[in-house]
Amino acid sequence: MEELFISCPHHFEELLYTELKNLGIPKLRLGFCGVFAPADMINVYLINYCSRIATRVLWPLTRFGCPDKEALYTMAKRIGWAKYLSIDKTFAIDANVSHHNLTNSLFAALVVKDAICDYFRDKTGERPSIDIQNPDVQLNLFIQKGQATLYIDTSGAPLHKRGWRLENTEATIHESLAAALLIGAGFKNGVTFCDPFCGSGTFLVEAAMIATNTPAGFFRKSWGFMQMPFYREEEWLKFKETADSKIIPLEKGMICGSDKDIETFKTCYRHLKGTSFRGLIELENQDVATYHPPTKPKLVLCNPPYGKRLELNKSVSLGLTAFIERECTEDTHIFVLTSEPALADSLGREAKEEIAFKNGGMSVSLYYLEKP
Ligand SMILES: C[S@@+](CC[C@H](N)C(=O)[O-])C[C@H]1O[C@@H](n2cnc3c(N)ncnc32)[C@H](O)[C@@H]1O
Repeated sequence: MEELFISCPHHFEELLYTELKNLGIPKLRLGFCGVFAPADMINVYLINYCSRIATRVLWPLTRFGCPDKEALYTMAKRIGWAKYLSIDKTFAIDANVSHHNLTNSLFAALVVKDAICDYFRDKTGERPSIDIQNPDVQLNLFIQKGQATLYIDTSGAPLHKRGWRLENTEATIHESLAAALLIGAGFKNGVTFCDPFCGSGTFLVEAAMIATNTPAGFFRKSWGFMQMPFYREEEWLKFKETADSKIIPLEKGMICGSDKDIETFKTCYRHLKGTSFRGLIELENQDVATYHPPTKPKLVLCNPPYGKRLELNKSVSLGLTAFIERECTEDTHIFVLTSEPALADSLGREAKEEIAFKNGGMSVSLYYLEKP
């Protein structure tokens, strides 16, 4: 059976594998930067709507040996594109290529683009247009060790675009990354959670969605699969209704956060207002040094200002140390995401590095602060 490729950032493959297994998907296979799963539309709906960790869900169109650009062009032109695209639809191609003859991903994407345009020109005299920003159909080309796979991207916009975000604040973290870190840190319904550097509210909203079984795509309106030939609206709406029926209410006071910057606080407030969690997540506009969360948190997970993007100063370290001493108990699990090992080491508890990865091109690590 053909397999979907469900992509995620490197180092999060096992977490994604476990999440997909818990969603009930059989026959999973671990890959690099992703997981393979059987290709059927129910899995497409399920993963696009319910996975919090996945970045994209890719449906394979063809797989072939690809010694050079001529083979790439010929095989790409052979696909029955009329099934997936038409001249009044736009498309874009993302390529990820590691090949001794085809080293340039952009060039490989252009070869496929030419093949598709020539396919339509031969048939109709016209060709579909490219739209890099917001295409109707997003394609994905992957070439490794002389094997090419051409996928249709059933997600469209990446899945971290959940639909609740109105604007980014400084050094915003991706929603899927925030969810992965929360899940990895053991967050679930019933755990009191606090983010004292909440920024735009990413950890707060993602935590609320996890606690309430709210599907990751609940606030989103469209996905790439809606343009696919196998898409049946009735089937999708039935699936969505079943997933939405599992949502439970958020208990007030279980999730709280604060940010000292007034404009950031207002953005976060607007984000919470646009979700079903308004008034249930307790939000304050306080410096970490003086912030008293309404409930003692069982889990603290935060990313204080990074040195490279925001000025890291001593007051952040002193303020967070004071917050930990004052507001956390022996039972509080504390995770700090930072690019500054010195910050993690300055917080009065032993810092054990849990995972290192890239966030917005920057190397960061998640530190678990050991119990005192
Ligand atoms: C890296 S950002 C957090 C981003 C957030 N996780 C998000 O996804 O939007 C750090 C945040 O800490 C806030 N901040 C900086 N110093 C602070 C302090 N002393 N107390 C509380 N918040 C502070 C900044 O305003 C900024 O929004």
